[in-house]
Amino acid sequence: MTAPLHPMLNIAIKAARAAGAIINRASLDLDVLKVATKSPNDFVTEVDRAAELAVIETLLGAYPGHGILAEESGREHGARDSEYVWIIDPLDGTTNFIHGFPVYAVSIALAHRGKVEQAVVYDPTRNDLFYASKGRGAYLNERRLRVSRRTRLTESLIGTGFPFRRGDNFKRYLRMFEEVSQQCAGLRRPGAAALDLCYVAAGWYDGFFETGLSPWDVAAGSLLVTEAGGLIGNFTGEADFLYQREIVAGNPKVYGQLVRLLAPHTHVIADDEAAVPAPAAPAPAAAARKRAVRVRKADAAADDAPL
Ligand code: IPD
Ligand code: CA
Ligand code: CA
Repeated sequence: MTAPLHPMLNIAIKAARAAGAIINRASLDLDVLKVATKSPNDFVTEVDRAAELAVIETLLGAYPGHGILAEESGREHGARDSEYVWIIDPLDGTTNFIHGFPVYAVSIALAHRGKVEQAVVYDPTRNDLFYASKGRGAYLNERRLRVSRRTRLTESLIGTGFPFRRGDNFKRYLRMFEEVSQQCAGLRRPGAAALDLCYVAAGWYDGFFETGLSPWDVAAGSLLVTEAGGLIGNFTGEADFLYQREIVAGNPKVYGQLVRLLAPHTHVIADDEAAVPAPAAPAPAAAARKRAVRVRKADAAADDAPL
């Protein structure tokens, strides 16, 4: 970026690098890593927690009046009533990290009145820094990012994430997988959603979709996608996706084709069923969320039907 970075983005970058240093150090000796299980197949390590604390300390050190929504500590830190909320995933791709599979990242977004304005996704294995400020473009290190120009889904490389937690709707996912995989050039599942979205921004993927993601998985990556000229939304193409646990992103042409395929599989869950309840948002955003959040009984029944 030639213009100076926004001061809040600068702090986010400092926080992401601090977390990255903790993660890199720990990656040198994975044998001593203490792993706890949050629920079957959902892991947390002391590295997730230490990285999260480092991020929060850096952010609140600079902006003590801001709010925090972090994967491991929720809303425990920071102000509860600030218009500014930092949305943090200290280590996205924990399962990869535990196994030494080098695809994981630190993800930090700043939402102002519910809209993401600053974003950093830091891949400490490659020292790759993806970042964006609203209205000022998306970058990887010094390079400006643009989504791909591919127009046909049949020629597209698509990223995805598999459901893996108990209670995830695997059958519904398999139906989507079947349709998308037969209509694109290739489907990839590296295992870190924040990076998946950056790969769309960089044009390495032409599109991405996943269900069951939380706000900290997607907040930062979503700004990377839109600032690189891409689109992101829920399966029916609505932009209000942060708390809906279904997401599709892509360059504008491929996004449209993915939404056409995925819309019949939409299953937006009600606020009170979400793993992370949406925080009180200012009036317009809250109204938009109400309109978009719904449970379709027919879909819910179909989810349990045999394939
Ligand atoms: C996970 C990764 C993964 C996605 C999962 C996420 P975590 O994040 O983003 O790609 O499929 O749904 O939970 O737990 O490693 O931070
Ligand atoms: Ca995550
Ligand atoms: Ca995480």
